[in-house]
Amino acid sequence: MAKTHWHYPRSEFAKSTFAVLVDGPLPGITLFGPRRTGKTEFLTQDLAPLAENAGHRVVYANFWQALESPLAILLYELDFALRHGTILDRVQNAAADLAPKFKIKNPVGEGEVEIDLARLKGRAPDNLLLLLDQYCERLADDQKPTLLLFDEFQELARGDAAKPMIAALRTSLEKRKNGIASVFTGSSQERLRSMFSPTQAPFFRFALQHDLPPFDHAFVDHQLKAFRTTFKASIDADEARAVFDNGDRNPLLLQRWLMARGMHPHLNAEAALDKVNADLAGEFGFAEKWLQLTAIQRAAARALAERVTPIFGAAGATRMSSLLHEPPPAPQRIQAAIRKLVRLGLADKWDESWRLADPIFEAWIRNRPETDF
Ligand SMILES: Nc1ncnc2c1ncn2[C@@H]1O[C@H](COP(=O)(O)OP(=O)(O)O)[C@@H](O)[C@H]1O
Ligand SMILES: [Mg+2]
Repeated sequence: MAKTHWHYPRSEFAKSTFAVLVDGPLPGITLFGPRRTGKTEFLTQDLAPLAENAGHRVVYANFWQALESPLAILLYELDFALRHGTILDRVQNAAADLAPKFKIKNPVGEGEVEIDLARLKGRAPDNLLLLLDQYCERLADDQKPTLLLFDEFQELARGDAAKPMIAALRTSLEKRKNGIASVFTGSSQERLRSMFSPTQAPFFRFALQHDLPPFDHAFVDHQLKAFRTTFKASIDADEARAVFDNGDRNPLLLQRWLMARGMHPHLNAEAALDKVNADLAGEFGFAEKWLQLTAIQRAAARALAERVTPIFGAAGATRMSSLLHEPPPAPQRIQAAIRKLVRLGLADKWDESWRLADPIFEAWIRNRPETDF
């Protein structure tokens, strides 16, 4: 968010998270929250400033779609934190578009080290894993532990390429558990847990597991206040709450709806919501994603979006049958369709049931005509 008055501070949660990180029993915590529910904003705008103001160093690394270069991203961020300091600098210099080759400062001794992304495909070279350890050594501080914020950490669990890095990271962090504390966020509960829960998991017993608390109506009130500040006009609070509640309490959706109301005052509540849904669908490419799917995959996605349970049982089959105008699909066909949705990153397991991974995509699918299969 550009303008700070739109940011709703999660101060209490930031304080308790910080306390657990600095004084808690384990070297880290995991934070699960569905996509676009405020994880990044919490890390960079609530937790990081709190820690920095208390004199702690903070490193922020985002692994979203970083399949080929997570180690490079991490080294870049560790270097950035040592050289420049604050998270504000960091957010203004996104690491997402790393050059194919870049240089970081040698954490021990003189000079610079060149990172060549092409060389990082496949197994991470041992010298770079050593470098990772040296950065951790430089950053560790027993008096004021450094915070490492790993955003969308579950992405590292896709495929085997990141395995050596994960093992090295665990060792490096374990060695400095008094000097470094970590937050691992994830938008896939299942994949995040797979890295922390099973006894053979790479970060077994390394982090306390938390969920990012969802926003409540105080968030809506705060956003209405921001709206008044920006647009010098006011919005009916019940209308805003309805948009928020019907949109699964998604902060982004409410914020976009308020922007649409402010910028297009002739639109009523419903028309503004239609506009926002259409805009978001374009921005996130929902139509293209939908077109990739076969009829049965769409029907499965629709049933998931409607939260039909059990999805693999009679209820799921009956719903898909009515959407497809054909006899109820066999359980194996439903399973295959959902597996495909999972592989595409569109569906995920969540509190022991299957869901669509992106709440905004979910709402878009629910709003499609029933003839779309
Ligand atoms: N604390 C907050 N105050 C105001 N808006 C927020 C807040 N957290 C999230 N948002 C809104 O929701 C959007 C998505 O948040 P983000 O942190 O990117 O989600 P995530 O990292 O979980 O995918 C933000 O761009 C912003 O518009
Ligand atoms: Mg994020």
